[in-house]
Amino acid sequence: MAEDSKGVSNLLHENRTFPPPEDFAREAVAGADLYERAQQDRLAFWAEQARELISWERDFEQTLDWSEAPFAKWFVGGTLNVAYNCVDRHVEAGNGERVAIHFEGEPGDTRTLTYAQLKDEVSKAANALASLGVAAGDRVAIYLPMIPEAVISMLACARLGATHSVVFGGFSADALHSRIVDAEAKVVITADGGYRRGKPSALKPAVDAALAKSETTVEKVLVVQRTGQDTEFDESRDLWWHEVVDPASPEHTPQGFDSEHPLFILYTSGTTGKPKGILHTTGGYLTQAAFTHKNVFDLKPEKDVYWCTADIGWITGHSYLTYAPLANGATQVVYEGTPDTPHRGRWWEIVEKYKVTILYTAPTAIRAAMKWGDDIPEKYDLSSLRVLGSVGEPINPEAWMWYRRVIGGDKAPIVDTWWQTETGALMISPLPGVTATKPGSAQRALPGIVVDVVDDAGQPLENNVGGFLVVKEPWPSMLRGIWGDPQRFKDTYWSTFEGMYFAGDGARRDDDGDIWFLGRVDDVMNVSGHRLSTTEIESALVSHPAVAEAAVVGAADETTGQAVVAFVILRSSHAEDEGITEALRQHVGQEIGPIAKPKRVLVVSELPKTRSGKIMRRLLRDVAENREVGDATTLADSSVMDLIQENLKKGS
Ligand code: PRX
Repeated sequence: MAEDSKGVSNLLHENRTFPPPEDFAREAVAGADLYERAQQDRLAFWAEQARELISWERDFEQTLDWSEAPFAKWFVGGTLNVAYNCVDRHVEAGNGERVAIHFEGEPGDTRTLTYAQLKDEVSKAANALASLGVAAGDRVAIYLPMIPEAVISMLACARLGATHSVVFGGFSADALHSRIVDAEAKVVITADGGYRRGKPSALKPAVDAALAKSETTVEKVLVVQRTGQDTEFDESRDLWWHEVVDPASPEHTPQGFDSEHPLFILYTSGTTGKPKGILHTTGGYLTQAAFTHKNVFDLKPEKDVYWCTADIGWITGHSYLTYAPLANGATQVVYEGTPDTPHRGRWWEIVEKYKVTILYTAPTAIRAAMKWGDDIPEKYDLSSLRVLGSVGEPINPEAWMWYRRVIGGDKAPIVDTWWQTETGALMISPLPGVTATKPGSAQRALPGIVVDVVDDAGQPLENNVGGFLVVKEPWPSMLRGIWGDPQRFKDTYWSTFEGMYFAGDGARRDDDGDIWFLGRVDDVMNVSGHRLSTTEIESALVSHPAVAEAAVVGAADETTGQAVVAFVILRSSHAEDEGITEALRQHVGQEIGPIAKPKRVLVVSELPKTRSGKIMRRLLRDVAENREVGDATTLADSSVMDLIQENLKKGS
């Protein structure tokens, strides 16, 4: 297992620790007592958090109903409105003038939304959606760039009790189509385009193409005008946001929904070709998102300026850009574009401009900035930063140290946060005022969360032995299922180890009890912190007429963590095709989205398979990473690896 994890031996010897600065610890939101309180009575602890952090329309009667495990019900009997929690109550509390969102467009345009303004915008959007027939229980697909309307749309859905399905703007028409169909969306919210790398990048044509692929349940498409580019319009189906939302009434009374009401579906890659619609509900999700955001980032809403660089198309954008910061009444930056447009100092310029105090980003971005050189961030005043977060993949100690030294002025605590689309909120992370942080380790389960590292029989492992990360007790923001597929939910997460949630990650504990992640143990790759399934990309490749067979692996990559490397066998009729590898890269980009494009496509004449026909990706990974090929004795034909290497030598 976890054979692809690089630097394990390096991690094993990591013993530098960085205790929180004294003044930081003294004023920290979270103290060590949180662990004790959670340990004494876990459910009482969560009930207390739910009542303290969330405004309930009707209080709950039972904290957890686990009688139909693994289908959990949290805060049973309670009702609440998520949008009310994220906007209205802050206005009611007298904080209407506080900035909710400092929006920074890629071209440099800006927009500031106070909580009072956000409340009006969300109410108008909710009224507009209702006028289009959207009601509680309906599904709405959101396919937008990183503009305030993305957050407004999510909250408008939540306000109405409609379940949103945000589809990352970088996904293709095909990917959008399959998600619209699976969720049976009634409305799609999109934009003419967004700004990406210095130019407008169209989005609406992908919606048109997706809806042209088959008859769908979509009745209306609401289009935000962001770039002003020429956009085809189907008068019977399409509506401009500014014509429908802007004139709508800013008065809308939020209604309470059951704590288990579906809040959103978010599709993520699994080990098979079909993405899974991960379902999250209302009360438990918001509680754990708000709790972790406040305590792990040491949030002081009246003074902090928080910035999460994630796109709303991923879970980080859902939990730590839309829901938790707004539920906690934070002031945050939302940035539309890429870190290097128009120059490589753009992010640091934004930190300086808004005096960002808490930055939450991904190791891949940190490694890219590191590669561009210290002199770029050094040009900006980053002294406002006091907490730095990392998410998406293991952060290597070198990148961690660089982040601390160059971005954090050698003092800001780094919180490396482990969690997943499925967990909904942070699970394993330091507490910045309590934990002596350690470069490369996500460290300990948060208060109220119970995890372990087990062997393949589900038995707890001793320290320093690699095994599987499991969660042993239900948690409030846990996924409630896979949309439309309860059996797959049980099979994927709950059948490997009796009574435990199997996360799909390899991990080990060191002698201090700190957890080190070793990468995925299944056929899921992690490219720039984004989950991609090997099977999904293989399916895309074999859908090309030139490809007879394909195998995809994630190979270690300095910047992106892993990179997609594809091995393909061509049909003989296409064996001589010019430029075929580039054509195949483009084809995958079109089928799934540009992030899934293989970095390399290698043409081979055979693939290594076991006697039962399973492709041995481990061996291909050895080739892709230029390593000596490991044990190949279980191959049906042991000469295959020699053949592949000969092929590649000839080809290079
Ligand atoms: O392998 C782990 C890795 O990302 C996976 C979850 O991916 P996704 O659902 O897309 O969510 C990403 C953002 C939460 C995990 O199974 N992962 C995420 N954070 C970390 C991590 N691996 C190590 N350390 C982390 N901090």
